Amino acid sequence: MNEQRPPRALRMSYLVASIAGVGFFAMSVLLLGVWPGQVLEEQTRVMSPEHPLGLSASERRGREIYSREGCAYCHTQQVRYLHSDMERFGAPTLAWETRFDYPHLWGTRRIGPDLARESGSHPADWHFVHFYAPRSVVADSVMPAYSAMFDGSPDRPKQDARDLVAYLETLGRDRELAGSEGEAHARANCNCDKDEMSQMAFHAPELNANPHKTRRTGSPPALVTGSESRGKDLYARNCASCHGPQGRADGPGAAGLHPPPTNLAEHYYRYDRLSIVLTNGIAGTAMPAWRDFSIADRSALATFVRTLYVPQPEPTLPQNLLDLGARVYKENCAQCHGSTGAGDGTAVSELRIAPSNFRTGRPTLGETLRVLRNGIDGTQMAPWGADTNGRLSEAELSAVAYYVRSLLVVQSSD
Ligand code: HEC
Ligand code: HEC
Ligand code: HEC
Repeated sequence: MNEQRPPRALRMSYLVASIAGVGFFAMSVLLLGVWPGQVLEEQTRVMSPEHPLGLSASERRGREIYSREGCAYCHTQQVRYLHSDMERFGAPTLAWETRFDYPHLWGTRRIGPDLARESGSHPADWHFVHFYAPRSVVADSVMPAYSAMFDGSPDRPKQDARDLVAYLETLGRDRELAGSEGEAHARANCNCDKDEMSQMAFHAPELNANPHKTRRTGSPPALVTGSESRGKDLYARNCASCHGPQGRADGPGAAGLHPPPTNLAEHYYRYDRLSIVLTNGIAGTAMPAWRDFSIADRSALATFVRTLYVPQPEPTLPQNLLDLGARVYKENCAQCHGSTGAGDGTAVSELRIAPSNFRTGRPTLGETLRVLRNGIDGTQMAPWGADTNGRLSEAELSAVAYYVRSLLVVQSSD
């Protein structure tokens, strides 16, 4: 029997292999499962504000409806560390923002826009009309309609639709509430001074820069005369759904909106006014901001909107009527519309929707009288006529209508 036995090391190879196998398995569990989880947990702990807001009962139900309806198949909820994302949606998502998100709804495909910063982007009336029939506000939308969540019209949302909108209002809310103090706290604790990528989270141009997000302030770029045909084309695709093809506020989306879209055939606007409106939208209303359009496109739109206005014969006024109008205005209107009509009265900070500026735009006489008799649905502009237990007589009503129309300041460049 001179059979040679294999060397000891080889005889033990099965043992080496199994120890190595178990070892590598354990290491990968630690490195790929346990460790990142701990790093993330630590990051969430140190960067989160102390008491981030949880979800209310309605918001939680909305979240369930969001996952039940498969919204996450088309919408993500994470702004990535990419310039294109940051420009469009705002600051990249930090881990703590999804602290309560179990199971998460981050999504993987963007057929629709990212919703991580949706809160404050649109008012509820816009969401209702949009859920009811997306194409009635966004002409080219491929989002399915959720009309089953309504009792036959966007004005009659069922609880499901209300909950869903409540949930959308929570997206981005915690970061917004944490404010600059919260940003400073997160930055000081992230231990990422040297990490260029992580620093991007704090260098976004705006925290919530969703292009649709409406704001009342911000100095817009000057718009000039643009291409009317380009404007016409853009208008048909983006604006006619609400404002109607001729600007007469009769688009399919108009019915459910409060306040309703403005009748552009009845309004003269200066370019600087249109620049503010198109750049910032109108806070508190369904009128979106169009910041994602180039300045040339916004100019083209402004030019086209001005062509929608149908001028009407302007009567010349006796001085005594203007004097009466000025008196009525000072007593009843100046606290909101401002003493010079610039929309900057003392009560402005209490109003959800800013009062109109009469110096940069002018409604026709007919429209002005209609507004004074009926008020504007969805705003604090109340009816003033005698028949609506209002405070003004017919004579005062027309006097003040003439008066506010005299406040327009025409610019030589217009
Ligand atoms: C088939 C894909 C698809 C599904 C499913 C879908 N959406 Fe959309 N969604 C879109 C597209 C595309 C847009 C962009 C056009 C538009 O505004 O309608 C959009 C836009 C939106 C917007 C407007 C975002 C903004 O700020 O402009 C919201 C809010 C929204 N969807 C919410 C939802 C909710 C909530 C659900 C589930 C009930 C849902 N979507 C399901 C495709 C989808
Ligand atoms: C989702 C519906 C909707 C769409 C789409 C929309 N608007 Fe509006 N728009 C409104 C509403 C609502 C108002 C009225 C707000 C108010 O009462 O202050 C308004 C007001 C306006 C005003 C009057 C602003 C003022 O200061 O009086 C102009 C001008 C205007 N929109 C232009 C446009 C243009 C141009 C587009 C397309 C690029 C557009 N809108 C798209 C809903 C919309
Ligand atoms: C409580 C504040 C408030 C008072 C007081 C008030 N308004 Fe208004 N007014 C508003 C608001 C808010 C709007 C709506 C702006 C919008 O829809 O964007 C408005 C809109 C208007 C419009 C429509 C302008 C347009 O471009 O279509 C006219 C006209 C108007 N007001 C005239 C008056 C007159 C005249 C008085 C006094 C008799 C008056 N308002 C008093 C807040 C007020």
